[in-house]
Amino acid sequence: MKTDLQKLTLIIIKPFILFILLSLSLFAFISFQTTGQSLSKPAAPDAALPSDIKIRPGYSSYDAYLNRQLNKTLNPKLRQIWTTRDWDRKVTKFAQFFDDLKRRDLLFNASKSLCIGARVGQEVAALKRVGVENSVGMDLVPYPPLVIKGDFHHQPFDSETFDFEFSNVFDHALYPWKFVGEIERTLKRGGVCVLHVLLSRRADKYSANDLYSVKPLEEMFKNSELVEVRSIDGFGLDTEVVFRKNKN
Ligand SMILES: C[S@@+](CC[C@H](N)C(=O)[O-])C[C@H]1O[C@@H](n2cnc3c(N)ncnc32)[C@H](O)[C@@H]1O
Repeated sequence: MKTDLQKLTLIIIKPFILFILLSLSLFAFISFQTTGQSLSKPAAPDAALPSDIKIRPGYSSYDAYLNRQLNKTLNPKLRQIWTTRDWDRKVTKFAQFFDDLKRRDLLFNASKSLCIGARVGQEVAALKRVGVENSVGMDLVPYPPLVIKGDFHHQPFDSETFDFEFSNVFDHALYPWKFVGEIERTLKRGGVCVLHVLLSRRADKYSANDLYSVKPLEEMFKNSELVEVRSIDGFGLDTEVVFRKNKN
């Protein structure tokens, strides 16, 4: 037989124990959910990116991303067209862009220059045509002597190598902040980076990100100042953005 005191203790303690047990189960459930999420879906690499840029989902691995890029760049029929029928039209147009940059004192004959994602090197040929002789391109697929092999997420150059870097392939970057970080690393202090980007609509199926304003670029170019933004008509790209790496 339980005493009155024992009965009273049970009445008070039972709900308290129940409450503790329920809280513990709830805590365990929430912890499991969070851990489960981070195991099955690693923190998105673009988690810290501003909202005006979106990384396209669907690449199962970095190799899958590279293979998609290479799929087009290595296409023999396309390479034939790029190096023959397309060649002069594209070199002429790129040369106009570079002449314009020279007029605005953003590019000089003496500028040591890099074209990022240069494919068969039409933009490098254009730089040479306007007098910027010390120029080279970089792409996943080399095209000697104009284009050497390299991944723009890990440029194969020493820090502070170039006075000028040009690229119209920002949308192909799976890791845009690495793309930008590598440009800032390999540019000399005071060096100029010119990007041609597409803001008004989604880019093609080989793109790895979609950019909706210049703001994310401003945030990613941490060690540079924004010099100019202007509208262009550049092989399907609509905006030219110019940054200058800080002098100190
Ligand atoms: C749209 S094409 C642009 C080619 C060239 N700039 C032009 O306008 O003729 C994109 C190029 O970026 C290159 N590319 C894609 N991902 C790359 C990466 N991670 N590193 C270097 N090049 C890359 C592709 O191989 C391809 O040649």
